[in-house]
Amino acid sequence: MEGAGDSAGAGGGRRLVCVTGGSGFIGSWLVRLLLDRGYTVHATVKNLSTIMLPLCSARQMKWNEVISYDEGETKHLRALDGADTRLRLFQMDLLAPASSMRPAKELLEPAVKGTLSVLRAAKDCGVARVVLMSSKSAMVPNPSWPADEAIAEDDCWADVELLEKRQLWYNVSKTLAEKAAWEFAEKEGLQLVVLNPGTTLGPFFTPSVNTSLNILLHLLRGQELELDAVYTGWVDVRDVARSAVVLYENPSAQGRHLCLASMERLVDFTAKLADLYPEFPVHRVKEDKQGWLMRAKDPSKKLIDLGVGFIPFDQTVRETVDCFRNKGLI
Ligand SMILES: NC(=O)c1ccc[n+]([C@@H]2O[C@H](COP(=O)([O-])OP(=O)(O)OC[C@H]3O[C@@H](n4cnc5c(N)ncnc54)[C@H](OP(=O)(O)O)[C@@H]3O)[C@@H](O)[C@H]2O)c1
Repeated sequence: MEGAGDSAGAGGGRRLVCVTGGSGFIGSWLVRLLLDRGYTVHATVKNLSTIMLPLCSARQMKWNEVISYDEGETKHLRALDGADTRLRLFQMDLLAPASSMRPAKELLEPAVKGTLSVLRAAKDCGVARVVLMSSKSAMVPNPSWPADEAIAEDDCWADVELLEKRQLWYNVSKTLAEKAAWEFAEKEGLQLVVLNPGTTLGPFFTPSVNTSLNILLHLLRGQELELDAVYTGWVDVRDVARSAVVLYENPSAQGRHLCLASMERLVDFTAKLADLYPEFPVHRVKEDKQGWLMRAKDPSKKLIDLGVGFIPFDQTVRETVDCFRNKGLI
């Protein structure tokens, strides 16, 4: 997310912002929130003319595949309040396949190059401030960080060697891309601030189900997922969008910002889910393999200090499940 104009604050400048990946799960909520706040939004999408047809029966998909059940990559954005006068869509392939959550080694170079090409464009256009959507995957796991010590948001970096050994390519790509962004910002004098969300859930109005929503969908269908190495807790997509706007509008916000409602383990998450939805065959994880992850109730200290609050688990999950039901996915 980048802002042009005299000032990044909501009250100053031309109130023009650019959102890259504007058609995605998080991007579309960000565009919606910005329009609601009176901004003019320039959103980039990969293909303005794509018609996404149903790929196959949603029930046959793996959790890390993308489900499309509707058509049009941008219809949901064009339908937003204020879109007719204050939303402009631009086709921009940042560099296939950029940072989707689909795990593959091929992600690495494009993720870094895609991030740097956006930052280069931002710098060349003289934007006031850039909010980079990184991930908690760029912060943990880090075996050299004491397991009983809360994460220091600015200092805790995921151990890339360990991630590579475990072939966690998405995590590697997010870590390398964020590191490259900080180097670029320092060298070029670009005002950069970073958001590091965890597994993002919540209601969606995109024409597809992204990877993080797919995790919840598959858990509700009774599948066992291998997430011990990556799961660290969840956050509502509306809080992610709000946090991005707070970081954008507060030039005093500096550095990296963990964005999680709760830092918790897979055993905790599946137990809460199973309790909330006894009618679904949710598989309760019984063996806790996440000794490396310290539980924390309010882990996002920097965002909380900036006034961000977090939507509770029951509300996020119920509203996500309502969306799955309305779209006939469960
Ligand atoms: N969801 C989570 O749990 C989570 C957590 C932490 C961080 N994040 C980060 O947040 C960002 C958005 O994630 P999301 O969950 O909203 O993912 P998403 O729904 O898959 O959206 C990703 C967006 O990026 C676009 N994109 C992908 N490759 C592109 C390329 N080469 N050129 C231009 N656009 C491209 C996609 O367009 P198409 O639809 O056309 O491919 C889509 O609009 C990502 O950087 C992700 O790493 C997500």
